[in-house]
Amino acid sequence: MESIIHQLSELVGGAFAQCGYEPRLGAVTLSDRMDLCQFQCNGAFEGAKLYRKAPVAIAGEVAAALAENDIFQKAEAVPPGFLNLTVTDAFLLEAVAAVAADGHAGIAQAGHNETIVLDYGGPNIAKPLHIGHLRAAIIGEALKRIARAAGYTVISDVHLGDWGLQMGLVIAELSERFPEWVCFADGFDSAEALDLPLDVDMLNEIYPFASKKSKEDEAFAEKAHNVTLALQTGHRGYRAVWEALIRVSAADLKESYEKLGVTFDYWYGESDAEPYIEPMVNILKEKNLLYLSDGAQVVDVAEESDKSPVPPVIIKKSDNSNIYATTDLATILQRAHDFSPDRIWYVVDKRQGLHFTQVFRCAKKAGLVPESTELSHLGFGTMNGSDGKPYKTRDGGVMRLSDLIETVTEAAYEKIGQSEYANAEEKRENAKKIGIAAIKFGDLVNHRSKDYIFDIDKFLSFEGKSGTYLLYTVTRINSILRKAGTEESAAPFDTKQVFSDAERALYLAVLMTTEAFRLALQEKAPNYVCENAYLLATLFSAFYHDSHILNEADAEKKAAWLSLCVLVRRLLLLHLDVLGIEAVDRM
Ligand code: ARG
Repeated sequence: MESIIHQLSELVGGAFAQCGYEPRLGAVTLSDRMDLCQFQCNGAFEGAKLYRKAPVAIAGEVAAALAENDIFQKAEAVPPGFLNLTVTDAFLLEAVAAVAADGHAGIAQAGHNETIVLDYGGPNIAKPLHIGHLRAAIIGEALKRIARAAGYTVISDVHLGDWGLQMGLVIAELSERFPEWVCFADGFDSAEALDLPLDVDMLNEIYPFASKKSKEDEAFAEKAHNVTLALQTGHRGYRAVWEALIRVSAADLKESYEKLGVTFDYWYGESDAEPYIEPMVNILKEKNLLYLSDGAQVVDVAEESDKSPVPPVIIKKSDNSNIYATTDLATILQRAHDFSPDRIWYVVDKRQGLHFTQVFRCAKKAGLVPESTELSHLGFGTMNGSDGKPYKTRDGGVMRLSDLIETVTEAAYEKIGQSEYANAEEKRENAKKIGIAAIKFGDLVNHRSKDYIFDIDKFLSFEGKSGTYLLYTVTRINSILRKAGTEESAAPFDTKQVFSDAERALYLAVLMTTEAFRLALQEKAPNYVCENAYLLATLFSAFYHDSHILNEADAEKKAAWLSLCVLVRRLLLLHLDVLGIEAVDRM
């Protein structure tokens, strides 16, 4: 379905053209003064500069041209040059009925037959999932769902960090602590799975310990480095420990992601790209892109237009070891081979921007993917504490994700603990959902590229832009529909008349859904969906206060309002669903 914004922009653009001006000046937006008009166009101001005319004169001509069109109840020029637009109720209701009848609730099916590989999550084996990885999971999951709602085929891959130096560090440390393990014996040569006494708590302790040690102890650093290289070139014993590490760690990661409602189609790791490293390097060689620089093999990726230097990407270090860029390039080849994607999107901390610039340029130069394949790094900012610095635990440590979820769930439980509607078990379940909703919405409502401050009280507030407020709005609609005895499968929307201003405003929010999803996809940013959910919820609240739905005596009016409730609930649930947020039945 086409968005009303697009439709009106075309119309107004046509009127600009009819008056001899550029049609693009006709871009329409939802009005920020609903009391004056529903939509506005500010194109006359730009037109004034282009055509050396007073803006109000241009707006006046365009308004006159638009007045001929009977979809407008009002099209007027307002000094100094605004174009204020209001559509007729008949037009509005017809558009809303189309949304209600549409199986996709008005979301444009832009995906056609395109496939997107979505790389998000990116946790590292043997390191606990901490809140640095929270944003990748939350944003990636939302983008996956938004793109699917628009008809794209989306393949999600967690892309575990399981092949780098961190593995060498942990294995080296284990070999010093447990030299008696069979896999550390010389000549160990078994491919069978080993049952090693490893658990998550131990891993959580070992990685930071080994990492610190390597900075103080040169011999250990070298050992870890050698272990990494040996692991990557097939050392049987290290491989056996590595496999055990993955088993323990992946189980723990899955549990955390499950709590967050985040799922992946593939649990591939950097290691899975290993078989593609050699073919990838061969392609670079064939194309004469690879050259030696200080012993390392590198590819130039600088471009003339670069504003800041983009250094060559290192493919092989002087000791022939692979690095982050090597696996990312090999992974591109693997994905091209397995999925032939039209786009590959990476939801990764924005501080990795240079890495992705280098990798993408190299991939395109080498033709690892066709020129037409879109490679995008969707960078995100940091989640900060109230001091504006990266969020920490009370004692200053890095917070584990599971602890964060527990803290917020507890706070949510305390908040709803007073209410009498539910038994303890239902409240516990709801507290979990409300907690997750608070965390996710608190994150997603900010444009992904921005830093934000984690504020439990704000995120859990029943008022304002919070996940809690949205869930609460849904429960309110549930309660109205329950009392009215209106089933979900209500009759098709066939309202013929608008009865109040609050109702009319809410119809507009309904129609903005198409635009919100379009923008979210265009910018690859879920915050547009959050904003629209909030718009729907606030305009619903205003409508609810204004209209005594259940006591309404006029049957036609009451039916219209109830079917609006049904539609708004459907849309809110859809918005929540693509944000990865589960609704609660009552609160
Ligand atoms: N494991 C990486 C990290 O923790 C993130 C991986 C992101 N994905 C990728 N293809 N590089 O920083």
